[in-house]
Amino acid sequence: MVHSMKISIVGGGYVGLVTGSCFAKLGHDVTIIDVDPVKVQSINNGQPPIYENGLEDLLKQNTGLRLRASTGYDSVAKAEIVFICVGTPPQPDGSANLSYIESASTSIGTGLKINPHYCVVVVKSTVPPGTTEKCVQPAVLRAAQKTEREIGFAMNPEFLREGRAVEDFLHPDRIVIGSNDPRAGKHVADVYRNIQAPVICTGLIAAEMIKYTSNAFLAAKISFSNEIGNICKHLGIDVYEVMKGVGLDQRIGPQFLNAGAGFGGSCFPKDVSALISLAEKIGDDPILLKSVIAINERQPYRMITLLLDKIGTLSGKRIAVLGLAFKDNTDDIRDSRSIPVIQELLDQSAHVAVYDPMAMPNMRRIFPALEYCACAADALREADGCLVMTEWPEFTRLDHEFDGMKKRIIIEGRRILSCKDRDGICW
Ligand code: UDX
Ligand code: UDX
Repeated sequence: MVHSMKISIVGGGYVGLVTGSCFAKLGHDVTIIDVDPVKVQSINNGQPPIYENGLEDLLKQNTGLRLRASTGYDSVAKAEIVFICVGTPPQPDGSANLSYIESASTSIGTGLKINPHYCVVVVKSTVPPGTTEKCVQPAVLRAAQKTEREIGFAMNPEFLREGRAVEDFLHPDRIVIGSNDPRAGKHVADVYRNIQAPVICTGLIAAEMIKYTSNAFLAAKISFSNEIGNICKHLGIDVYEVMKGVGLDQRIGPQFLNAGAGFGGSCFPKDVSALISLAEKIGDDPILLKSVIAINERQPYRMITLLLDKIGTLSGKRIAVLGLAFKDNTDDIRDSRSIPVIQELLDQSAHVAVYDPMAMPNMRRIFPALEYCACAADALREADGCLVMTEWPEFTRLDHEFDGMKKRIIIEGRRILSCKDRDGICW
């Protein structure tokens, strides 16, 4: 049994809520702090405000016992460790918006002023290299009117995939702990003592860079696969056959070689853009990273080109879009590749009927005027064409539903259908 630590988590989003719930499961005493009272209420009612496999059970088992949420920072005065999990959204120039990190740091420092324990402030949010040392540390120490002997600092990036974040937290490939003070690093290692995984201890700035580099490399694998897939499509080759053979090389590995409509989500686009912005600020020209983004921006429009090749014009046509979430098993549409596709269909005066098992309420906020359908068959009825944009497992079984279309013109941006006569973006 690990020594139960008092933990405060600032930011109860995908990362903070999963982190807090898993730490509570491991026996720690956790308070999640969030500015959003609706989110706080939902967590305290044992109702996860976001969808994540296994999260509801964790809340039901721990809320009110070892886990609670609050809009206030009172818990920081008794905390032994405070995690920062607030958003770092992209600014118009691609660089990370650190305003939430700064405000959270000041609020944490104020709370730590009366905290008698040695406490470590840990940045878990994805931040540009140098942020913890140059932004978080001074803001906390200034507000707390304390020194580094009383407050430690660390950086502990997350590698959580949405939809499987609980599994990824409890069974990580590695735990990265960045700190410039061994005492702080050991303090953070203690909180993870019950998790079996290699622990990499490094400096603050290296830990920040490990996160960006991991995401940039995964995104590069996807854009590389898409570029190869686009070439294969012209040559009549199935890129999945190619990548199966390529991925068996131990040096390459089979994961993240799935060509398709491109990557979405709240991390890959944001983190690669932040790294590009950082590189340009220091006078470099990150041409490879810029190409990763350029390929990804362009990829969804290949779906429209393939559709136009088959139906001539989009004006006045009914087009079904199956899948709105940026990937399966989530309601999250942040940077979903469906968004540029839907925008282009509307720009070309198509009538767009959509279906997604989970993400329609979120997409309605961006595109209120689409026809939102209760099932795939309703979207497909009398449709002139269909674009499959998300790898929902339920789409695998679709077949007779396509008979409701005027013609079975089906283009899939994710390798998910098993019916015949579908055309793939790269296969
Ligand atoms: C966020 C970052 O986006 C990601 O880069 C980082 O790796 C981890 O934290 P995520 O949890 O997906 O990931 O962000 P989001 O779902 O937007 O949650 C952020 C939460 O912080 C929101 O619930 C928001 O209400 C809260 N917040 C934001 C605060 O509590 N205080 C603030 O000042 C700002
Ligand atoms: C990613 C990283 O995997 C995770 O480590 C990090 O902490 C956060 O960002 P996430 O964005 O939740 O996780 O989803 P992921 O499963 O990585 O997929 C991201 C996007 O890439 C999705 O749009 C998915 O459809 C796409 N993708 C993924 C591909 O197009 N091809 C692939 O082979 C894999």
